[in-house]
Amino acid sequence: MKKTMGWVFGALALAAVIVAAQPSAVFRARPVGNLKQVMWSIAFPSSNIIFDVQKKAPSTADEWATVQNAAIAIAETANLITMPGRLREDGKPVPVQKADWNKYARGLITAGQDCYKAAAAKDQEGVTKCTDGLSEACSNCHEVYRDAPQPAPAKQGKN
Ligand code: HEC
Repeated sequence: MKKTMGWVFGALALAAVIVAAQPSAVFRARPVGNLKQVMWSIAFPSSNIIFDVQKKAPSTADEWATVQNAAIAIAETANLITMPGRLREDGKPVPVQKADWNKYARGLITAGQDCYKAAAAKDQEGVTKCTDGLSEACSNCHEVYRDAPQPAPAKQGKN
């Protein structure tokens, strides 16, 4: 009897080890790039696509879809830059626990959604208008978290 119980426990322990060794079926979001890389790879090119509409209206459905997609990328950037564990370029953690950081990040959702609506309506004027909110959403955060330690930055073209 004692021996049987030993086998049973042994088998259970082995099963537990096997289960623990399996990769979790649930993918857990985790950062890949640093904050600056997210800015250059997603926020920057996406906002440029939207800003360009001011100069030249998209002429095809595909071109408008590109603008819509850029607006979604801007809104989704809020999720990426509030993800725990992401580091800044200098190796310091992104301050995802700070209330104002989260407020500034949310600004990208509002701006992205406004631009999305205008792009979905193929409305050049609407997109031009939404760019005000968009550049504000970028610079509100940059003023505090990017440019603050530097002497008064020139704002022009620095989004
Ligand atoms: C919630 C804060 C926040 C928001 C919103 C934000 N940024 Fe940033 N951005 C930063 C920080 C902080 C850095 C510095 C990156 C680092 O330290 O790794 C940065 C860096 C950048 C850089 C790199 C500049 C360089 O010196 O190489 C670009 C480009 C950039 N942001 C573009 C944008 C654009 C465009 C938007 C708006 C669509 C935006 N960012 C919105 C916080 C923000």
